[in-house]
Amino acid sequence: MFRDFHSASRFSGQAAPFKSETTQHRDYKGNRMSSEEIVLYGDDILRKPTKPVDLSNSDLKELIEHMIEVMREAPGVGLAANQVGIDKRLFVYDVGEGPSAILNPKIIKQRGKEIATEGCLSIPGLQGDVRRAAAVVVEGLDPDGNEVRVEADGLLARVFQHEIDHLNGTLFIDRADPDTLAWVSEVETEEE
Ligand code: NI
Repeated sequence: MFRDFHSASRFSGQAAPFKSETTQHRDYKGNRMSSEEIVLYGDDILRKPTKPVDLSNSDLKELIEHMIEVMREAPGVGLAANQVGIDKRLFVYDVGEGPSAILNPKIIKQRGKEIATEGCLSIPGLQGDVRRAAAVVVEGLDPDGNEVRVEADGLLARVFQHEIDHLNGTLFIDRADPDTLAWVSEVETEEE
């Protein structure tokens, strides 16, 4: 089960990155799991807008730990809750500065445009060029329920837009330039 699986202190501090100390990857119910448990393209849950997170839900932090483990195992730079089969409006991300999560995220500002190649853990092996805002400001809640506001550009801005799309039932293939979509045998770029 989740005895000692996390400590409250790991989530203290506003938007502070937190690390899992587990050596085994465990699923939401405590079973050993792997990236094979990521929901794949074709599943309806990827196409439905997710429900706002209820902060009174005591399983929330376990869910976030689980999602970070799945993201790390994949490996990926972002993961939305519906990608692990959970209908909740939250995502986790890690672009190299430690994992973090945003609950009930909303893009409140965006500027510029940038085209870059994306992939998705729910559509393994497929890549395509997607045009997105170059910079965004996202508001939401951290795992403790504190309001956060994150300004992002570059890869982080892209991850935020990709994951918030997931939470709205949108996939990168909906936005990708169809001429650039291609299956790759070895996925070398980071997936989101
Ligand atoms: Ni994705």
